[in-house]
Amino acid sequence: MSQFEQRDELNNPRTQVPEFTQMVEQGLSRRRFLGGAAALGAAAFFSLSPVSRALAAAGNSPLLGFKAVPTSTADRFIVPEGYRAERLISWGDPLFSDVAEFINGGGNSATEQASQFGDNNDGMSLFMVDDNTAILAVNNEYTNYELLFPPLAPPPAAEGDQQETTTPVRQLTADDVKKAQAAHGVSVLTLKQQADGWRFVKDGRYNRRIDANTPMFISGPAKGHALLKTKADPKGERVLGTFNNCANGMTPWGTYLTCEENVNGYFGTGEQVEISPALARYGVGAIDAGYQWHRFDERFDLSKEPNEANRFGWVVEIDPKDPASTPVKRTALGRFKHENAELVVNKDGHVVVYLGDDERGEHLYRFVSEGKYNPDDMAANRELLDNGTLYVAKFYDGATGGIKGKGEWLELTFGKHGLTAENGFNSQAEVLIHARLAATQVGATTMDRPEWVAAHPTEPMVFCTLTNNKNRGTNDQQPVGGPNPRADNHYGQILRWVPASGSHSAREFDWDLFVLAGNPTVHQDSLYAGSDNLNADNMFNSPDGICFDRGGRLWIQTDGNYSNEGDFAGQGNNQMLCADPKTGELRRFLTGPVACEITGMAFTPDQKTLFVGVQHPGEELAPSHFPLGGDSTPRSSVMMITRIDGGVIGA
Ligand code: FEO
Ligand code: CA
Ligand code: CA
Repeated sequence: MSQFEQRDELNNPRTQVPEFTQMVEQGLSRRRFLGGAAALGAAAFFSLSPVSRALAAAGNSPLLGFKAVPTSTADRFIVPEGYRAERLISWGDPLFSDVAEFINGGGNSATEQASQFGDNNDGMSLFMVDDNTAILAVNNEYTNYELLFPPLAPPPAAEGDQQETTTPVRQLTADDVKKAQAAHGVSVLTLKQQADGWRFVKDGRYNRRIDANTPMFISGPAKGHALLKTKADPKGERVLGTFNNCANGMTPWGTYLTCEENVNGYFGTGEQVEISPALARYGVGAIDAGYQWHRFDERFDLSKEPNEANRFGWVVEIDPKDPASTPVKRTALGRFKHENAELVVNKDGHVVVYLGDDERGEHLYRFVSEGKYNPDDMAANRELLDNGTLYVAKFYDGATGGIKGKGEWLELTFGKHGLTAENGFNSQAEVLIHARLAATQVGATTMDRPEWVAAHPTEPMVFCTLTNNKNRGTNDQQPVGGPNPRADNHYGQILRWVPASGSHSAREFDWDLFVLAGNPTVHQDSLYAGSDNLNADNMFNSPDGICFDRGGRLWIQTDGNYSNEGDFAGQGNNQMLCADPKTGELRRFLTGPVACEITGMAFTPDQKTLFVGVQHPGEELAPSHFPLGGDSTPRSSVMMITRIDGGVIGA
């Protein structure tokens, strides 16, 4: 999440519990929530029965073999006893030997940044080349101007103005904007296994930077549509760059999926322009999020290129093994604020991609490919993501109460469910470019900010983090209920569903909540204390990154309120936990440094090395000098975790 939205979140201290929430709490007690979860028939294998609950409470999960770490407010990356954490790479480290090293205090040039590891690493995937060579593709979501550029004194306060400015205001230059654009995108890294573990290889043959100016193709149903045409690209088929690359996915045919999230924040204008309702739905307006790119780069000025914003908000496919390849924006997966792209090959051979749209009151999506995956011909799979059907989720409450129920996937196909010209949709391209509007048209459920989706490696069972939603319960579009059971939800929850007949392409599913985050040391017996698998020793807020390892452990990363005060007292810095999806047990695995978010993870195939991302330590000039200490500039970093005894991570 960008610092701008983070600030918005932090400025939202929870106030009074509204009256309707109290009603919910009375009518739907914490105990009842758990009873409901246990009664979910289709999920019986995983459901949290009283026996499982007892096991979870006793810490007897056969999957979790490490000793929990306590919460922390230290400026350190802390892993369990018996584990070792090392820094793999940090923002600004050069990818090539002819590029300058990182300079503290924002001293590097735009040209240097373009060949250095990007800023604010997020989702990542590991691709094996051979037993001792791998490629780590890492998203670089955004950048923090207060760290990217040399600090300047705050502007002099106007007479009588008592307001303090904590973040220096700086007049940007065109070169500054180029540097910011180069700090975004994706970094592709060559790794080699050495005697002492995996290491990044400077000048490695796969090393590559992809940023906000890298040429890309547009493909799929929206390619060439009038809404994607610009002065520089009158055919609507090519675009420069990708940015706000949040989380990720990987395909079984060896490509990386990078997901464009809060792209609206990069567009603006100093002119008077009329913003279409469609652009407004995506948050695009005259005022940008502070990046100021439109002042120096015309394509980000809405008065000059009104369609450029339609060319972002997509999933981009990258071939990490070919540094000369051109990334492709796959429009069949829809345009929204993408979080990750969780791809599963269904038992019928169709490729299914689960996709969250991370915004308050937006939706959860699923793509099902028209073609089938061919494990014997990798090249034949390369266009699978161009043809298929996009769906959006609708949830129904269970008839007997409890936070569980049924759900269905609603097709987003031109001509169906009111996706017609009279409702503003003239083609499948428009349905995809305006996927949010299409989702509203078909009656999709508004969600508490869907972040990552993770599918269990062997069972037909899928999880999605719903990170928080301060707007829940404040308007008719975001009513309390279903998988979003709390008004003013600042803790978040993890949703789970089981597709009908165990098929990811089925229309229906059963859902429940795997965990309701909360704070049982502040709230008693209420929805805000959290579900019973949460306690004083493993509590957290704002689940975000989630991923399964091959052993079926569910890893959970947080991007939450790290104030350690009030409703968040005792929760400390952002963290990563591990859960047993069968027993519901949750155990804290690591804690991050000051003002960071933990996001992004990848395992080696032997499960003995885990790469984890530390994003924006020291944002907004919080007191961090992670990872190098002293008075160094805090830097987002990829950390590498191993067990001292060489064992499997988490076991
Ligand atoms: Fe980039 Fe929704 O997190
Ligand atoms: Ca995220
Ligand atoms: Ca988040």
